[in-house]
Amino acid sequence: MIIFDVRNAAGELQTLELPTDINLSLMEVLKASEYPIAATCGGMALCATCHIEVLKGAEKLGPPTDAELDMIDTLPHATAHSRLACQIRLGEQLNGAVIVLKG
Ligand code: FES
Repeated sequence: MIIFDVRNAAGELQTLELPTDINLSLMEVLKASEYPIAATCGGMALCATCHIEVLKGAEKLGPPTDAELDMIDTLPHATAHSRLACQIRLGEQLNGAVIVLKG
């Protein structure tokens, strides 16, 4: 299982538990879990509606791509913890992570 925590817009921390064998991005998992992510670009790193902050476990996710960094750079409220959920694959590296939805 892959287990990580998500803080929603109301500030509530919720734990997601997912099987390791589903080939989805973190954005797709969050949408499927009914978090309010528009994902208007369909996961192409072009809309930033899947903006999240990774407060714990970011070092295990690998560095963002140039396309992801370029998009994050356009966000006025981006922080050093900012990532695009569509650019993160669901996998064991998310175990123990804490993410915050930024939209
Ligand atoms: S879904 Fe558009 S940037 Fe991630």
